Amino acid sequence: MINERMLTAINEQIKNELESSYLYLSMTAYFHSESLDGMAHWMRCQTNEEIVHAMKFYNFIIDRGAQVKLLNLSQLKTNWASPIEAWKDAYKHEQQITGNINDLITIAREEKEYASEPLLAWFVEEQIEEEANVSKVVEQLEILENDKPGLLMLDRELGGRAFLQGSPFDPLSIKNA
Ligand SMILES: [Fe+2]
Ligand SMILES: [Fe+2]
Repeated sequence: MINERMLTAINEQIKNELESSYLYLSMTAYFHSESLDGMAHWMRCQTNEEIVHAMKFYNFIIDRGAQVKLLNLSQLKTNWASPIEAWKDAYKHEQQITGNINDLITIAREEKEYASEPLLAWFVEEQIEEEANVSKVVEQLEILENDKPGLLMLDRELGGRAFLQGSPFDPLSIKNA
């Protein structure tokens, strides 16, 4: 049976990952409204990935013989002053998630909940990737400043990201459902 404190914290983390998903879907809508379809596509892929993250924790709770409790998602932003502001928010958000993962590891060690360590170790690595991905875009947008053709080139590049197979966030896979 899973330790109660650990269970509460992991339930909370399911909410955090679903909130990430919700935030990136909101950014998808914002980028579409700015005709930055490549950035919108990248965020759509990320929306999907965050649901996968939530489900990794969800399945872990079930495997440990406990019950998942879904918590309320908080109200999120729907607009940003500029593309770089949205990417900066994404970076800030991922730093927060890294902090959540670190807190989970602290709890796991304090409560001797060692069964959760392989899953948490996976997330430690994942957060390195997540922070690197979004901070790279922030840095590139800083280099571009007001270079509009450069922005469109970056947008096109970000549009090349691949969806996880069968993703419901992939417009093509929804069509065939
Ligand atoms: Fe995540
Ligand atoms: Fe990732």
